[in-house]
Amino acid sequence: MREERWSAYLDCVGELLSTPQVQAMKHIRHHPGVSCFEHSLFVSYVAFCLAEKWRGDPRAAARAGLLHDLYLHDPKCMPSYKQCFAHPVAALRNARVLCGSLSREEENGILAHMWPLSSRAPRSRVAAAVCLADKLCATAEVLGLWRRSALCRTACRPAPAFGGNAVKNG
Ligand SMILES: [Fe+2]
Ligand SMILES: [Fe+2]
Repeated sequence: MREERWSAYLDCVGELLSTPQVQAMKHIRHHPGVSCFEHSLFVSYVAFCLAEKWRGDPRAAARAGLLHDLYLHDPKCMPSYKQCFAHPVAALRNARVLCGSLSREEENGILAHMWPLSSRAPRSRVAAAVCLADKLCATAEVLGLWRRSALCRTACRPAPAFGGNAVKNG
């Protein structure tokens, strides 16, 4: 993984990464052995790279990717079919509170990330990048590839990535 790209990525989301809301995702389990924070960071970085490749807006893709699962509740508090459709709405609500305002691309990127399971479809390169990144990252996490990735090694180092906070759970 190129250091310059990682540093360009951090320029887009550095401030968001250190907020209590985003840090709170470290305490929510998303996939086995992977916190919601790790998953969101992974999706955010991959969406950033895809948007760069597709000549979309990498900053919007990185931000929407980081916030796409900011639902901030225990996913087991509701049946999984309900969680599947409800969590993007909760994530958007929390993202609006956190950021004040979001671009239309960022909002659609968060709301449509479950497509084609949900009926809301991605309507921009940013939203398509988040949607595809979510599937790719979830697959890599379930297969145990995230832990072995260069991104995980870079992101999990304690400093100075995001004000000294390591990515690991808890
Ligand atoms: Fe999600
Ligand atoms: Fe996700």
